[in-house]
Amino acid sequence: MTKEEFEVTAYDVKGTVDYDKLVHEFGVKHLDVPILNRLKAYTGELHHTLRRQHFFAHTNFDQILNALERKEKIYMYTGRAPSGPIHIGHIFVWQFTKWLQDKFGCELIFQIPDEEKFFFKDNVTLEDTAKWTHENMLDIVALGFDLKKTKFLIDTRDAGVMYKTACQIAKKTTASTVRALFGLKNEDNVGKYFYTMMQSVPAFLPTVIEGKPTLCLIPCAVDQDVHFRLTRDVAERLGYPKPSTILSKFLPSLSAESKMSASADIGIWTTDDAKEVERKIKKYAFSGGRDTIEEHRKLGGNPDIDVSFQWLSMMFEPDDHKLASIRDDYKAGKLLSGELKQILIGKINAFLAEHQKKREQARPIVEKLLKQPF
Ligand code: TRP
Repeated sequence: MTKEEFEVTAYDVKGTVDYDKLVHEFGVKHLDVPILNRLKAYTGELHHTLRRQHFFAHTNFDQILNALERKEKIYMYTGRAPSGPIHIGHIFVWQFTKWLQDKFGCELIFQIPDEEKFFFKDNVTLEDTAKWTHENMLDIVALGFDLKKTKFLIDTRDAGVMYKTACQIAKKTTASTVRALFGLKNEDNVGKYFYTMMQSVPAFLPTVIEGKPTLCLIPCAVDQDVHFRLTRDVAERLGYPKPSTILSKFLPSLSAESKMSASADIGIWTTDDAKEVERKIKKYAFSGGRDTIEEHRKLGGNPDIDVSFQWLSMMFEPDDHKLASIRDDYKAGKLLSGELKQILIGKINAFLAEHQKKREQARPIVEKLLKQPF
């Protein structure tokens, strides 16, 4: 793969992603100024991930704004396939999801597809995914979603709620469509094929629950949109409204790979302690600084390729003025790479200290939620 080549599928991200190209290839739309202004008119402010174009694309988001302006009830839906710990990249998407829920005051369906990684990974058992369901829900609850308006949909537990809709979708979907969209092969187990039905179902559940056409907004990273392309394609034929998506770029890995993935790269887990965070950032965070202090002072650093700066921009420094001054100082050579890393380390550790406390407090709540079917 050359530098210009990249690939984004629901199950793999390779190369350096060109997001403009991706918008074109995926047939999604840019979150442009007019639509952001419409959103701002409704919410009163724009989240930093919108101001900075980290959430950068959408499908049918206009219809969500129409519904909100008409005071119609909408739902949101997102999800997490449990098979390992939660890393900072997941938190990035869910913090924004929580912001939207707070602004819209809407219901949220949080799907935990505990069969997905069982089908897609060789060594993952259903016992493993049950354990990670529990662990991951601690992180999700710790983020402070409004639990009166948030319902967890755990696939193997709540299959009864999902199955009819899954069957409707399955009847309108051919194996060759799934194969083409998800890059599956004849040799792949049929669970992988059928799982794609299960990720579509929650997009239609709002209509099933309400008993009338009800719109659904799905905040997620852009690689997941392919699932909802399938969902959009079958919606009309089944008499459901098309779901809307609002799509983010990937939080880069410490080594500046396009996407931080749990398996392939060094990440920061929500359970890392302060020393571990410091060690990882110092050792692995890809730097846009110069080789020597003298050179750096003279020529300055490059924030655009610097992972510590990217992480501040995407997650840890919501204040535009503060971010701009960090950027300027870094470019001018006033701020050294080690100092920039130290700013990030401080921010991550402050976040994690709070998060880990809330994660512990979430234990009895998650015990209860696990016993409450959808
Ligand atoms: N497929 C997602 C994963 O690999 C999990 C998921 C299920 C999801 N439903 C979703 C993600 C809706 C975003 C939106 O973790």
